[in-house]
Amino acid sequence: MNLDLKNRKIILGVTGSIAAYKAPELARLLIKSGADVQAVITEAACNFVTPLTLETLTGHKVVYKMFNSTTDPLEHINLAKNADLLLIAPASADFIARAAAGRASDLLSAITLAYAGTVAFAPAMNTNMLNNRATQKNIKILTDEYGWNIIEPASGELACGITDKGRMESPETIVQSVTNFFNRDLEGHKIVITAGPTVEDIDPVRFISNRSSGKTGYAIARNAALRGARVVLISGPTALIPPENITVINVRSALEMRQAVLEESDDAHLVVMSAAVADFRHETIETKKIKKETQNDSLEIKLVKNPDILLEIGEKYKKSKSPVIFGFALETDNLLTNGKAKLEKKLADMIIANSAKDALEKETTKVIFIHKDGRVNETDEIPKQSLAKLILDEYLSINPLSV
Ligand SMILES: Cc1cc2nc3c(=O)[nH]c(=O)nc-3n(C[C@H](O)[C@H](O)[C@H](O)COP(=O)(O)O)c2cc1C
Repeated sequence: MNLDLKNRKIILGVTGSIAAYKAPELARLLIKSGADVQAVITEAACNFVTPLTLETLTGHKVVYKMFNSTTDPLEHINLAKNADLLLIAPASADFIARAAAGRASDLLSAITLAYAGTVAFAPAMNTNMLNNRATQKNIKILTDEYGWNIIEPASGELACGITDKGRMESPETIVQSVTNFFNRDLEGHKIVITAGPTVEDIDPVRFISNRSSGKTGYAIARNAALRGARVVLISGPTALIPPENITVINVRSALEMRQAVLEESDDAHLVVMSAAVADFRHETIETKKIKKETQNDSLEIKLVKNPDILLEIGEKYKKSKSPVIFGFALETDNLLTNGKAKLEKKLADMIIANSAKDALEKETTKVIFIHKDGRVNETDEIPKQSLAKLILDEYLSINPLSV
């Protein structure tokens, strides 16, 4: 095994799931990859795995009590200070709920709250517990609001006897995911991403917009930042919280988005246009609310075409190698034909075509990658986080390191 995790200090948080019996094997594999592992376990987890086992494997005293006069009284602060990653594996439903609520009621949840770096959870629980709306909501808070990572549970035979999703991922796969967290393969690359809808005002209270949630663009921004890229996220109005350590430019209209894209693209290595830019805007934004009483039975508003930002940057950079330009095509039908036509017309390096029914307002999506060199690949239905990784992998295969 290689030493991908050499000099990495990892806190392995073990919680009260039956899958805690796999934690010693996970600790062993992390150490074998070069990591320095400090285990912290919950009191519930002590029913499934002994501190002594983890202590023997890691070579560090295993802590689990908040109030323990024999050790450092500020353990929860000090342990969190020095780690490169906090990995909670297995993560019980209750622990995920506590982390989502920002609780600090036991040593491990206090450490999680005090920790400022990358946090990853490997959930393990019965399928019904996993699918419960409360757990799903908590997982969404951890990822979308706090920017933490979930190592998706696998499907397989569960301790309760059924075969379904909920099993903690295998220690080997978790080590692979952990290695990916430290993979800074986009260091030195500037990546500009547009996300969300644009909003075209009609008057001070009304506007035209669309159903784009911004989730794909935010997922790309998060993955790029995690891999060391310098990220500029140009976002229309969304309900999402952007990841940390990136530059966010909040815009409202297509015209504002165009301005920001043009200002940021010259020194970019990759521009990903995932925003759903409104094709039309109101010709003039009324300064006063249009009153119902002043209209007849219908209201006519004149819309004019917005600039085509993707085409504009396609033309601007068509003779230069950089930036690589990826665009999205959201279609209701003829995905491949429409995607190919868009690729040609917009002079992009790749079009990612997806259908409105598969993508809009959803956590998952299914796309077709249409490359300039004629290659076409189709994905299964995958989480938008996974799509983000694939898109950035595609970029690296085009531009491995010209930076
Ligand atoms: C035999 C047994 C197995 C359990 N397995 C799980 C599990 O796989 N996942 C889970 O979320 N909770 C499981 N629980 C429930 C947790 O142990 C319980 O919610 C506990 O309070 C979690 O505490 P912690 O999050 O502080 O570790 C199990 C309980 C028992 C008795």
